[in-house]
Amino acid sequence: MPESLHQPNTVYLKDYQPPTYTIEKTYLDVAIHKGETFVDSTLNLVCRDSDAPRELALAGEQLELVSIAVDGEPLDKAQYRLEAGALVLLNPKLSFQLQTVVRIEPEKNSSLEGLYRSRTIYCTQCEAEGFRKITYYLDRPDVMSDFTTRISASKAECPLLLSNGNLLESGDLENGRHFALWHDPHKKPCYLFALVAGDLSVVEDSFVTASGRNVELKIFVEEKDLDKCAHAMNSLKSAMRWDEKVYGREYDLDIFMIVAVDDFNMGAMENKGLNIFNTSCVLAKPETTTDAGFQRVEGVVAHEYFHNWSGNRVTCRDWFQLSLKEGFTVYRDAEFSADMGSPTVKRVEDVTLLRTHQFAEDAGPMAHPIRPASYMEISNFYTLTVYEKGCEVVRMLANLLGPELFRKGTDLYFERHDGQAVTTEDFVQALADASDRDFSLFQNWYNQAGTPELTVTDHYDENSRQYTLTIKQFTPPTPECTDKQPFHIPVAMGLLGEAGELALNLEGNTPEDLPSDNTHMVLELTEAEQTFVFTNVPERPVPSLLRGFSAPVKLKYEYSRDDLVKLSLHDSDGFNRYEACQKLAMAVIDDALHAYTCDELEHFTPDARLLQVYRSLLLESELDQAMLAYMLILPSEGYIAEQQDVIDPIAIHEARRVVAAAIASALRSQFQRLAESFDPAQEYKPVARDIAARLIRNTALDYLMIKPSESNTNTCLAQLNQANNMTDELAALTALVNCDAPAVKALAEKQLEAFYQKWHHEPLVINSWLALQARNARPGGLERTKALLDHPAYDASNPNKIRSVIGVFSNANPVNFHGGTAQDSAAGYKFLADQVIALDRKNPQIAARLLTPLTRWRRYAESRGQAMYQELLRINETAGLSPDCSEIVTKSL
Ligand code: TRP
Ligand code: ZN
Repeated sequence: MPESLHQPNTVYLKDYQPPTYTIEKTYLDVAIHKGETFVDSTLNLVCRDSDAPRELALAGEQLELVSIAVDGEPLDKAQYRLEAGALVLLNPKLSFQLQTVVRIEPEKNSSLEGLYRSRTIYCTQCEAEGFRKITYYLDRPDVMSDFTTRISASKAECPLLLSNGNLLESGDLENGRHFALWHDPHKKPCYLFALVAGDLSVVEDSFVTASGRNVELKIFVEEKDLDKCAHAMNSLKSAMRWDEKVYGREYDLDIFMIVAVDDFNMGAMENKGLNIFNTSCVLAKPETTTDAGFQRVEGVVAHEYFHNWSGNRVTCRDWFQLSLKEGFTVYRDAEFSADMGSPTVKRVEDVTLLRTHQFAEDAGPMAHPIRPASYMEISNFYTLTVYEKGCEVVRMLANLLGPELFRKGTDLYFERHDGQAVTTEDFVQALADASDRDFSLFQNWYNQAGTPELTVTDHYDENSRQYTLTIKQFTPPTPECTDKQPFHIPVAMGLLGEAGELALNLEGNTPEDLPSDNTHMVLELTEAEQTFVFTNVPERPVPSLLRGFSAPVKLKYEYSRDDLVKLSLHDSDGFNRYEACQKLAMAVIDDALHAYTCDELEHFTPDARLLQVYRSLLLESELDQAMLAYMLILPSEGYIAEQQDVIDPIAIHEARRVVAAAIASALRSQFQRLAESFDPAQEYKPVARDIAARLIRNTALDYLMIKPSESNTNTCLAQLNQANNMTDELAALTALVNCDAPAVKALAEKQLEAFYQKWHHEPLVINSWLALQARNARPGGLERTKALLDHPAYDASNPNKIRSVIGVFSNANPVNFHGGTAQDSAAGYKFLADQVIALDRKNPQIAARLLTPLTRWRRYAESRGQAMYQELLRINETAGLSPDCSEIVTKSL
């Protein structure tokens, strides 16, 4: 690659210009040979102006130009120029046919972008800007073209030849080769192009759409994985039905294909009619896949399917609009999963992810609005902010409108913009037009980064029976903007009295504005400070605020611990019960952190009110068992860290450990009863009820294994050896491996090895096996993690393996990553930096993602922060650093 390509430059949203040319038709002839592939491309280019420009640049990277012709005439050297990243045509005609032939080497493409080889399969990944590694093109999403693709390859090596749309023709060629010709009837941007060639087996099914059209459904996998496709297929059919029912959206081709590949940078990709998946997001069977794995498959299959409308039929004008398709599609898949299982449980899981990781992103050097104003490398903006916060923003719109008006709005959006490449404003405008609402202030959610803080104070006046809530909003500065405008924030709420929920009479509200049950409402904040007065309030209430996590904000209200006990046990909002319980647990952990600082942690006893809440919850017969489990699980070390001004990972680990041990001993008999309810004969089903039962049982097992009796260890061992499913098997192994008790150590080692021997032929199981070791908080984690890199199961070019070991170690094992003491912490940082530097040469996208923990150096005390900073400097000085890593490092220094 020419050195000039490594000069990262910034692209700005404000500089957007429509394309000067469109590509009416794209004809690709892709000839795959051993070690080299020839791409013969014929493009019909038409200028959109009456005057042709002096130059036209087509993006292209790592291409070897073999020939070039315009309207059938070879171009001579004076008519074009090759520069870094582009082919520039000089004095192009208003309308012409460009034919180029390029040579590429997919076997050597380790970036997993463009056309590459994953084990035995040739496949593509074009989003965001990978198509330019296949041929010279106007590689931008607002250029939408009619694609015809001819693929040819050896019939023995690649019996299967797939691309987007419908198969027009196929047949044999000379020399043992064959071909297939595909045409996609829907115009699309090139990022949705896909091609697959290889030897795969197929699982087939079909779906009849609401209007009666038959769609063939095919999932292509390696033959050994044919028994792991049923769940993905069922999920796909459920998603297709759901999108018809909830959004009125039907599928629009006669065939829908999913291909599973091992080497993939992300979860999956929504290429038109030909989704390509990371095997981890499609394969599932009870013996090898955990409950979380089953749910991930269901969610990702639905997500990619839903993109057919939110992304493909209506696409993005430019990459700044990424959240247009991702935020909306994450919202759609979250609502789908909620409908398939338990809505409150799904909400708790999503909010936990958002608050642990997206809030950290918003508080770090890479903070950006869900629609960034600029970027250097777009791959770096496939973030929790664009996806998860983007989903929260759509959720707020949906909640502000209610189901009928939101549906009216999305209908208008899909109808108005079908076949177009549009912006987030177009999305919000369609919702505003359909509902007659004014969302101009709401647009700030798209333009401002940072997590707003709501500070709530209240006052109850016994004489006037008035209750006053004052809410202030403030958003801390982020790199792109220091002075924030107020946001439009919906605050769902209720008031709890002694005997239950109180009726809400909001001053200034006419009675018909109020919901019928009168105990739940949504306050809309639009200013920096607002006051809400409730009249006829018979007693001093406890406010239940931000129900269902109605906005992605931090809520600050001085709850007493008794208030939290009350909300934990009695709030009618399931999410806020969870939230109150977590707040109470957080208060107890804060006590423990304080004791750690005073060197009194050894004698720590937790506030009895937390145990009292837990005891009551354990007795509640109606409570969803998954909710019970999530209420009993202490906030993660990552979540606790997010709450601190200065993060001390060791203090957090010790404090949390001591609180957990105290809970385990106080609730020993309850946990024992739960853990011993394991029944190896029960048939495995990945349904909400059973998932919840396993979760609470395994939560109890985790607690017991902090300080296990011999009988506890035997319970754990029995589950490990008798489980008929990976959820219970892995939970038991994890509990055993995490156990600090010296008596268990040798046993754990033995079981780890036995597990490997049992499952070494299943890569996805081995990913979990690697991850549970990388996550293990026991001393010596860095050495153990380094040893994993030398294990035969490790593969330094497979993103799943890299994430399972290096990603998990540096993100989910803080006590080992940050070292035992502040002095020896540099070793973990150096390890990560070495890995990033080595990986960057092969796969910049993955290297850049791995970097994240180091970018948070400002959150740590001087000694640690400086050691992290030094490693960032060292990465920054690496010759030939990719634009991906370069952007993140320079923004973090
Ligand atoms: N659009 C994909 C999704 O559904 C994201 C994606 C898949 C992606 N592979 C990628 C983005 C590679 C960048 C690079 O979320
Ligand atoms: Zn997506």
